[in-house]
Amino acid sequence: MPAIVILGAQWGDEGKGKATDLLTTTDTIDYVVRTSGGHNAGHTIVVDGQKFATHLLPSGILTPGVTSVIANGVVISPEALFRELDSLIERGVAPSPLVVSANAHVIASYHSTIDKVTERFLGKNRIGTTGRGIGPAYADKVNRLGIRVADLFDVGILQQKVEASLDLKNQLLAKVYNRRAIDVDSVVEELLSYAERLRPMVADTSLLLNTALDEDKTVLFEGAQATMLDVDHGTYPFVTSSSPIAGGVCTGAGVGPTRIDRVIGVIKAYTTRVGSGPFPTELFDEDGEKLWKIGGEVGVSTGRNRRCGWYDAVVARYASRVNGLTDLFLTKLDVLSSWDRVPVCVAYEVDGVRHDEMPMTQTEFHHAKPVYEYLPGWWEDLSGVRRFADLPKNAQHYVKTLEELSGTRIWGVGVGPGREQTLVVDD
Ligand code: IMP
Repeated sequence: MPAIVILGAQWGDEGKGKATDLLTTTDTIDYVVRTSGGHNAGHTIVVDGQKFATHLLPSGILTPGVTSVIANGVVISPEALFRELDSLIERGVAPSPLVVSANAHVIASYHSTIDKVTERFLGKNRIGTTGRGIGPAYADKVNRLGIRVADLFDVGILQQKVEASLDLKNQLLAKVYNRRAIDVDSVVEELLSYAERLRPMVADTSLLLNTALDEDKTVLFEGAQATMLDVDHGTYPFVTSSSPIAGGVCTGAGVGPTRIDRVIGVIKAYTTRVGSGPFPTELFDEDGEKLWKIGGEVGVSTGRNRRCGWYDAVVARYASRVNGLTDLFLTKLDVLSSWDRVPVCVAYEVDGVRHDEMPMTQTEFHHAKPVYEYLPGWWEDLSGVRRFADLPKNAQHYVKTLEELSGTRIWGVGVGPGREQTLVVDD
């Protein structure tokens, strides 16, 4: 199984690291690759009982023998990159080798400035971004006003590109947002200050990864954000600015679709979302509060409370379709261990009409009301269960019903935060 994609099937924070952990029990992974997003993601890695949170670095950064790759589709804040690396080093762990694409775009401090002022300007229409400059950096990329990693090694080019990028932004900042203009030279100086440390890490990562696949190495493409946050296929405009779906892995890494062997969608046994935007199964009652509390639903990246709701099988079917999922990994089943019955959304009602599939338009999705089926619950603590057959009968039934409703086989289940708290469904 040389090329494996792990991605989020809902609105992010599904616990993608759990699927990676389970995979490492059977496969030796040689490369872990980020292909989209930036330091807006959040991975929690536990090594020898110590907890580490990374936002930009691939989760392989603490695994000896693994090469971590930040591919061309990622937007890189050099400041965040070195801050994360330094914080690992300060805590006494040696990061494994890291390779960075020469073509990846750079987030400079002005991108997060623009991100924040734009959100403020949008008022009640704001997206609820992480404020890390992700959207403005991708906007520059598409507008052909971006700075790429390779530009940091040519002062003349860098100066020209920063000037071009700031020309319009400074007019906007001063005339629309009533802010001070940003000084070109200080941005150039800031970016150049990272160049020397960055240079030895930079390579043609598309060539590196394709060569690795030719040599039958195992490459894990690690998703950030999730399907419903995809700029094309998510709940636009309440999305991130990149393509976290399986197709985005190919453009984000320079690897062709025929090379991908397995696409694993990670999905929670219920649903959460941070930021603004529609969320049909969202709960505003004590059940929502209970999911939030038992599930510890606070964002790794921003510390914001996550909105909570029941499992949405329409979203699961949609994620199966747009990603071509081969497997689902169901996380946090243990959180549901204290309900007499557990509602599962099987369809939506939109203005009086039943929709079994994702409605075609965003307006319809905003009007979608969940149609629930109620599955029998269980009260047993699942945290020590390691075999599917040892789950309470109702929990097994819950997993098997989700599998039927979601259109993809459920390969693994998470029953707690620890690395070993997983089980394989077909064991
Ligand atoms: P941005 O990616 O900072 O532009 O934020 C756009 C939207 O994506 C906001 O609703 C964020 O809360 C959401 N978002 C970005 N990254 C993550 C993530 O890693 N998990 C969950 N939501 C995210």
